[in-house]
Amino acid sequence: MDWGMQNRLSRIIKPDTGRTVMLAVDHGYFLGPTTGLEDASKTIEPLLPYADTLMPTRGVLRASVDPDVDVPIVLRVSGGQSIVGPALSDEGITVAIEDAIRLNVSGMALSIYVGSEHEHQTLTNLTKLVDAGEKYGIPVLAVTAVGREMTRDARYLGLCCRIAAELGAKFVKTYYCEDFDKVVESCPVPLVIAGGKKIPERDALQLAYDAIQSGAVGVDMGRNIFQSEDPVAMISAVRAVVHENINVDEAFELFNNLKSKSGSASKVH
Ligand code: 5RP
Repeated sequence: MDWGMQNRLSRIIKPDTGRTVMLAVDHGYFLGPTTGLEDASKTIEPLLPYADTLMPTRGVLRASVDPDVDVPIVLRVSGGQSIVGPALSDEGITVAIEDAIRLNVSGMALSIYVGSEHEHQTLTNLTKLVDAGEKYGIPVLAVTAVGREMTRDARYLGLCCRIAAELGAKFVKTYYCEDFDKVVESCPVPLVIAGGKKIPERDALQLAYDAIQSGAVGVDMGRNIFQSEDPVAMISAVRAVVHENINVDEAFELFNNLKSKSGSASKVH
């Protein structure tokens, strides 16, 4: 792999453990003022020391992240639709490669909607982004978005992840599912999992643990961290699952210990 491309990937997936904790804060690009991200800088700032990578939109990056901070950025570069619009899958590329370079990003993230009415459009968005990324040594993260009608099973997610890798994504974000090891086995590039909607902390730690044990290289988690009753305690526990292989009981205990020490200091709401 080209030196620049490998160097950027190594900033995201840490070479010492081969794993990563990505903090997703890109939700506003189609959800608007998501709970916990209304004042994004207030939410993001205390979590940065615990995140291996931050995944914002360009707007949040410019407005709410201090440029002096030393965290690799995987920039959300797809969008153009909304939760109230006619089709969630109707996405285009929303950031010019020159601006991604100007923002010094380590990676670019784009959603693909396999099986949706805009499947072809989103897959060719991916190939265009990969071409631009290859030109400048910037890896692309493909996000396998699912519509309400799509079943999140190993067969479907395996199909999405494999297609993303075949089209040139350097790593893929997908959902955890039963038989996730089959999704991992058939995907030649590293996988990270999304957290999904907020669930109880122990369940989210279980999700992270199961994904890691099945071969994911990490998490790209948003709501289950920043909507937690204690976001800093939660990201610390997730880190220990991802980088230290601790089990769910230990991780939940760590979460509770850190939570009781911090009181309400790190709460988002
Ligand atoms: C949508 C996305 C999100 O905007 C976000 O990154 C998801 O994170 P989480 O589900 O953990 O809140 O990728 O496809």
